[in-house]
Amino acid sequence: MCGIVGYIGNKQAAPLLLEALEKLEYRGYDSAGLAIIGKEGLSVCKAKGRLRVLFERTEGGAIMPGTAGIGHTRWATHGEPSDVNSHPHLSHSGRVAVVHNGIIENYAELREFLTEHGYEFRSDTDTEIVAQLVDYYYHGYYYHGDPVKAVRQAVALLTGSYALGIAFAEHPEMLIAVRKDSPLILGLGEGETFIASDIPALLKHTREIVRLDERELAVLTRSGVSVYDRFGDPVEKTPEHIAWDVDAAEKGGYAHFMLKEIMEQPAAIRNTISPRIKEGRIDLGLAHITEDVIRSINKIYIVACGSASYVGMTSQYMLSKMLNVPVSVELASEFRYSDPVVDENTLVIVISQSGETLDTLFALREAKRRGAHILSVVNVVGSAIANESEDVLYTWAGLEIAVATTKAYSTQLAVMYLIALHFAQVRGMLTDEALHEAVSALEGLPALVEHMLGKREQMQYLASLFFNLRDIFFIGRNIDYALCLEGSLKLKEISYIHSEAYAAGELKHGTISLIEPGTLVIALCTHAPLREKMVSNIREVKARGAVVIAITDENDASVPAVADHVITLPASAPLVLPSLPLIPLQLFAYYVALLKGCDIDKPRNLAKSVTVE
Ligand code: M6R
Repeated sequence: MCGIVGYIGNKQAAPLLLEALEKLEYRGYDSAGLAIIGKEGLSVCKAKGRLRVLFERTEGGAIMPGTAGIGHTRWATHGEPSDVNSHPHLSHSGRVAVVHNGIIENYAELREFLTEHGYEFRSDTDTEIVAQLVDYYYHGYYYHGDPVKAVRQAVALLTGSYALGIAFAEHPEMLIAVRKDSPLILGLGEGETFIASDIPALLKHTREIVRLDERELAVLTRSGVSVYDRFGDPVEKTPEHIAWDVDAAEKGGYAHFMLKEIMEQPAAIRNTISPRIKEGRIDLGLAHITEDVIRSINKIYIVACGSASYVGMTSQYMLSKMLNVPVSVELASEFRYSDPVVDENTLVIVISQSGETLDTLFALREAKRRGAHILSVVNVVGSAIANESEDVLYTWAGLEIAVATTKAYSTQLAVMYLIALHFAQVRGMLTDEALHEAVSALEGLPALVEHMLGKREQMQYLASLFFNLRDIFFIGRNIDYALCLEGSLKLKEISYIHSEAYAAGELKHGTISLIEPGTLVIALCTHAPLREKMVSNIREVKARGAVVIAITDENDASVPAVADHVITLPASAPLVLPSLPLIPLQLFAYYVALLKGCDIDKPRNLAKSVTVE
């Protein structure tokens, strides 16, 4: 999604903002731009394409002198990617420049209103409306010349979501930031302050940050920031110190963030699990979802998007079996509008790496409004979903930069094991012996994942055999089907190969007509009770000419007897087994995309955190 940066200080703003935008490239974008407050007012430069184009057009920022400005990487929603649709957008008087992340839902109505008042529009975007509306109050019809008041009046009319950075030609001493339903943070330096969508943009300059809460407005000057709530009352904010290693935002010798993050999985899983095992028992440290609440729950919804929803599907089997409670997995974008039946005995588990996915956030709010208990599984500390949940379990995966999730996915799954065990423990559904076995299985998981990473060369070889195919199918049953969905998403999102995941039992109901000689089918056969059924499914597709890569247990002989290529899993407890098959599939997707020359960390059209509906 769009990336916002802003700077006011004593250094040249344009080169600094270009560098900061580079650190937000992982969010996904199709164009970029800068607005700098110089001696002659606001200068703006925008360019469709990669940041490199903007860098060249501005000579690395050198042709835009000034020590305050805003910058943006755009992920198109309204209007195609083009120079004119890129941000920043200037008001027609040239006095106000705006960068925006989110969607202004009532832009058509506001555009009509402003057009009637003589405002001319240059772009097809919803964002331009904000620059014009602020101008309308600041300088136009309602001239009062007060920038803060003008922003407040303008945002009061906006519906939808926004994180905004705003610069005024006549006020080189200030920038304004304001947000609703889209993330925005501020950075505090010595004689300089910053705006950013995310922490990596600031790490080089400061580790003291302030997170803007819903509808807060900040006025940034060289000496600090003043934050106000939606009513205009000052808010005391305590700066947060970011302790991360800057290396977390660097590739550390790997060719891509995705490979680095795949290889970090054993450590990430260990960090997620270890602090929650105390004296042989699971201790989640939940403050509000107490043991009484856990005992009262009679229905669980897992709500998430994309890979996080596949974590939900994978854990659904385990949760319903261990707790004997109905568990339903819902896509967040559907859940919100599905009139869900929830009450005070319903638990909604919300899963999100970024903690900012708008569909997931809105689904959370809907469930909360209807009285459900909300437990979230989130990676980004202090994010909106974390803040608005009753309790949050952080996945300590560290910063994940590649758009395709790997270590966040694996740690989400690890947290779901912990939730299942903790709830089973509290509800008296686990014997001491079973708990002891489960805890040892959890403690042994990082080593098993490490073992799976040893399949790297095999996956590179298999990728070399199949990277030029047009379609690849994944089949599996039960938990393996849920894993197929994630394996298939990983492949298609970074390699652009068409891929589908099917429940293997469904093949004969239509899908098998897609199989032709040479079609690659990846068959997951890790769920032992249904392995023989999978052997039959493999025979069916092979009889139609498919080539089969199968994943199965290292002690199994039935699948290797029918598949063309076999990836084996080490013997492992059923609880943690679902964490293993995805490791080679992540590597397969990575190497296929590498051989195809794709932009692995920043696949086309995709964004890391999806902050629009
Ligand atoms: O930040 P979230 O976990 O809420 O994001 C959800 C999905 O957008 C995300 O998992 C997406 O599917 C990834 N690109 C998958 O690799």
